[in-house]
Amino acid sequence: MSAPRTAVVTGAGRGLGRAHALALAAAGHAVIVNDLGDGPAETVAAEIGAAGGTALVSHHDVTDFAATAELVGLAADRFGSLDVVVANAGILRDRTLASMSEAEWDDVIAVHLKGTFTIAHHAAAHWRARAKSGADVDGRLITTTSASGLFGNVGQSNYAAAKAGVAAFTLVAAQELRPYGVSVNCVAPSALTRLTEEPLRRYEGEITDRRREELDPRWVARVVAWLCRPGTRDVTGRVFDVRGPRVGIASGWHLEPTFTQPDDPEHLDRALRSAIAAAPPAADMEGQRHA
Ligand SMILES: NC(=O)c1ccc[n+]([C@@H]2O[C@H](COP(=O)([O-])OP(=O)(O)OC[C@H]3O[C@@H](n4cnc5c(N)ncnc54)[C@H](O)[C@@H]3O)[C@@H](O)[C@H]2O)c1
Repeated sequence: MSAPRTAVVTGAGRGLGRAHALALAAAGHAVIVNDLGDGPAETVAAEIGAAGGTALVSHHDVTDFAATAELVGLAADRFGSLDVVVANAGILRDRTLASMSEAEWDDVIAVHLKGTFTIAHHAAAHWRARAKSGADVDGRLITTTSASGLFGNVGQSNYAAAKAGVAAFTLVAAQELRPYGVSVNCVAPSALTRLTEEPLRRYEGEITDRRREELDPRWVARVVAWLCRPGTRDVTGRVFDVRGPRVGIASGWHLEPTFTQPDDPEHLDRALRSAIAAAPPAADMEGQRHA
């Protein structure tokens, strides 16, 4: 029997990461369940074990470059290789721009943006070494963005900047890792977790069972597990917006309309105004509801 494929899921002790870890384990991966602190990662690893799967716990902090090197090393040492990385760990420190502290900015950028780079970098080096030794790597890197990063959301300049950065990072990583046999895709989830429960209550009031089912993290995990299946490596550089059972493919900035600046500076105002009027409306998260 061939060795199981190995997956690392960061921030897998709760919410979406937990759902990704369970789905990947159910699909036959040995999973390294990464999260901070004693408790959450152990609980998820025990759930995987109870269902007959293989799991290891990691408490490495994704903001720590050396710690994430150890995490990738752990997969290679214990399971022979690393095949899948889901960079999912996240925090929120919401505040309007004028009130945001330096620490609130730095912490969010560190966990989301640096915390995607760290694990992706060490995994990329692992995959490059394997590809150069002649192995067929068939690797997967899944990153996590947010509607906030794609469309903007008031009170989240730190988080939106980090998440837009993650989406852009995905496009570059997809191009760079393709030659090593690795696909790189990104999910923009909407799910009921401890990050979203309180804001959802504020917008929608009491959360009904139907809403809980619609926003169960497992819907997002299904798409992540699909991206990790054999035969899906051709799908790369994509951003999947997953809101429960609804899935959208998000596409990026486009130049529309374009014009050549008029010679007369007096005419620039008219040219810019008419281009703005002809362009799609400026992005905003509220306007980006799935049909
Ligand atoms: N829930 C949503 O609707 C939603 C929407 C958009 C994006 N996201 C993104 O999905 C991801 C998962 O969020 P969630 O909603 O499941 O939140 P969650 O709080 O339930 O889970 C996030 C996990 O990441 C862990 N974590 C935080 N910092 C870490 C670090 N430095 N190292 C390792 N682990 C760390 C936390 O301990 C936590 O268990 C995040 O990147 C989040 O920004 C979630």
